[in-house]
Amino acid sequence: MKEITQKIQHMFTELGDSQYGGEAVSQLEHALQCAQLASDESASTELIIASLLHDIGHLLHALPDDAPENGIDDMHENLAKEFLDRYFNDSVTEPIHLHVNAKRYLCNREAAYQAQLSEPSLISLQLQGGPMSEEECLVFEQNPHFQSAIQLRKYDDTAKVLDLQVLPLEHYLDLIETISL
Ligand SMILES: [Fe+2]
Repeated sequence: MKEITQKIQHMFTELGDSQYGGEAVSQLEHALQCAQLASDESASTELIIASLLHDIGHLLHALPDDAPENGIDDMHENLAKEFLDRYFNDSVTEPIHLHVNAKRYLCNREAAYQAQLSEPSLISLQLQGGPMSEEECLVFEQNPHFQSAIQLRKYDDTAKVLDLQVLPLEHYLDLIETISL
């Protein structure tokens, strides 16, 4: 097994039980559900793995799960990008890096989007800069990873179902072996 595959397995095994930021599911359940949604839509392998790993930044710091409620933005999208850059190309790391901005974008562009966000997600939204301005939206739409980031975000917002049956982590470790650098 490659070094990165081992690291990811280790992180989810050791830390995956932690609560997903005030939601009903654990970090591992959230990651697996997110990857499952991408698989079900026949997304690229890169986007499936990006979906699995999009919140790995939360496992890379020692802040408590409820940091946002105390006004602390953990900047997990940046931590993940820095950690994963050595091991994956941009089609994996950029949708992860942009998934917070995708939320800010969708809050501007889709009237119903912000209304369906969960309470923890609304709290973090304010720490992350709130909805994008019109100007920020236009710049974001030009990003080559814009579409992937939006897709990932929609999986992310849905992947919070209690006790859902999904494929296990091992399934994705095989995919990581094939696409990591
Ligand atoms: Fe997430």
